Amino acid sequence: CGIVAYIGDKPAFPILINGLKRLEYRGYDSAGVALMEEGNLQIYKKQGKVKQLENLTNGHSFDSTVGIGHTRWATHGEPNDRNAHPHYSSNHRLAIIHNGIIENYGALKTELEEEGYSFESDTDTEVFITFIEDIQKTLGVSLEEAVRVALTKVVGAYAIVIMSQDDPDKLIAARKGSPLVIGLGKGEYYVASDATPIIEFTNEVVYLNDEEIAVITRAGFEIVNTKDIPQKPYIHTLDLKLEAIEKGGYEHFMLKEIFEQPRSIADCMRGRINATEGRLMLGGIRNYSGALTNAQRIVIIACGTSWHAGLVAEYLFEDICRIPIEVEYASEFRYRNPVIREGDIVIAISQSGETADTLAAIELAKSKGAIVFGVVNTVGSSISRATHEGAYLHAGPEIGVASTKAFTAQLTVLTMIALSVAQQKGTISDVKFRELLVELESIPKKVAKALESDGKIKEISALFKDVHNFLYLGRGYNFPVALEGALKLKEISYIHAEGYPAAEMKHGPIALIDENMPVVFIATRDSSYDKIVSNIQEVKSRKGKVIAIVTEGDVLIPKMADFTIEVPATHEALMPLVSVIPLQLLSYHIAVMRGSNVDQPRNLAKSVTVE
Ligand code: G6P
Repeated sequence: CGIVAYIGDKPAFPILINGLKRLEYRGYDSAGVALMEEGNLQIYKKQGKVKQLENLTNGHSFDSTVGIGHTRWATHGEPNDRNAHPHYSSNHRLAIIHNGIIENYGALKTELEEEGYSFESDTDTEVFITFIEDIQKTLGVSLEEAVRVALTKVVGAYAIVIMSQDDPDKLIAARKGSPLVIGLGKGEYYVASDATPIIEFTNEVVYLNDEEIAVITRAGFEIVNTKDIPQKPYIHTLDLKLEAIEKGGYEHFMLKEIFEQPRSIADCMRGRINATEGRLMLGGIRNYSGALTNAQRIVIIACGTSWHAGLVAEYLFEDICRIPIEVEYASEFRYRNPVIREGDIVIAISQSGETADTLAAIELAKSKGAIVFGVVNTVGSSISRATHEGAYLHAGPEIGVASTKAFTAQLTVLTMIALSVAQQKGTISDVKFRELLVELESIPKKVAKALESDGKIKEISALFKDVHNFLYLGRGYNFPVALEGALKLKEISYIHAEGYPAAEMKHGPIALIDENMPVVFIATRDSSYDKIVSNIQEVKSRKGKVIAIVTEGDVLIPKMADFTIEVPATHEALMPLVSVIPLQLLSYHIAVMRGSNVDQPRNLAKSVTVE
């Protein structure tokens, strides 16, 4: 979900609408705003896109200089106009926008219903704001005090912004477990769920911490925690540029981000490696680097594409660092009773830095005594703050819901971490260390080369756009790439796709193969090349259609496969950085040809701040 709010001297409505559009990338199913109109608190909301909300308000000129806006991704209650945010409290004198989930809303709702309140929607949010109204009435306290008291009683996660008809020169914002950032202007303030709607106005921001409440007026703002203790705000200066969140001539953000990878990978390495001098330096891993080097075991936790990056890292860490690795889905890890022993290290990987499951898994690991490192893209995000140390991706904002450049940047950072640990531990020879460093430095060039196959991939896409299933197979370092290729296709084209280790195919998926089944082999030249060639033959002899990703100059596989796409040669540990590129393009083109909304695929959210 997305939050944007404004208080200042300008009309709020265009700022909210524009901000909601900037937040569209997060994925949503309805949108709404609340404004002051002639002394009345008015809400406009609509299922669908921000465009539909604009249609609803068409012709209306609003002069309210305060307002709140929201894009919703349904958790409680189906997506419809009624359940869209903002929500009124029972007397329509308060309005709220809310990201997250109030877990004890059922009990609160029953209590409030017993007191005679009724509700217009099925949401936890409406219960929450009515609860605040009730506290205000019963205790006769100020709005901010009522919000504070309410927050001590609710269980769950939230980022909220509240406005009041009786207090129209004030916004109240609070967070726990769901991000919220305040943008500081001159006599005006912005509140948003991430910095993207704010950066065109100001680069000075304050990130709210968990259990903090901000009371914002045109004259300034104050922060207290839920225990009513004043908190000193820390002002960050963002170095985000507006162009970084705009499409820059590309038809979709996803395509822009795919093509940006030579640069984003280079940005990720900038100042960190110097292959000529054989130097590698990760400034963010300092105080705990000893603990990392001496790790008895490393547990990697992540979700989605980030989890796939973790799987690639498993191969490399085990190979060059000789440290046992476990790669865990954050959502599974957090609800087990995982064993964390002394000497165990956790690495959490997250593009957004806000994924609720990953954040909770980090807290669990910390509570069991683990030192946790973050591999995160979004500077200042919750995960970057919850971890002991870490290395940012520096890939720039990723707007397309399907992750692309964050994945390759994650691989780059994880490779750098593994190399630095191996060097410290002495488990890698100088020669191999240098060789990998030189190769890593050359990756942006090789990715650029791989992108040159775009035209050919588009032609192949046209031939397969109408199929119902796809299989992706790879071995070794390319096995997680198969998983990632299948995930990309599923996410944006809605074609069912499965990734599998090529050798496991014969234990199940082989039953699916017939002349209608396209099978993508990631079959670059590496230590398992001969094995994968046999797997291709197994598919061909069952009439499957083979699309093979091969190393430049391969003469054998093109003779067997129906289609081949070449990528430049590199060390097998770094091949995923290159071999994933054609798979990103394949999923992109197929999705475009099928008419899907590539940047905002149905049902998906960019930043999953609910569990
Ligand atoms: C969502 C996104 C995916 C992403 C996953 C993990 O599902 O749609 O692209 O891989 O969350 O997100 P994170 O921000 O933690 O990497």
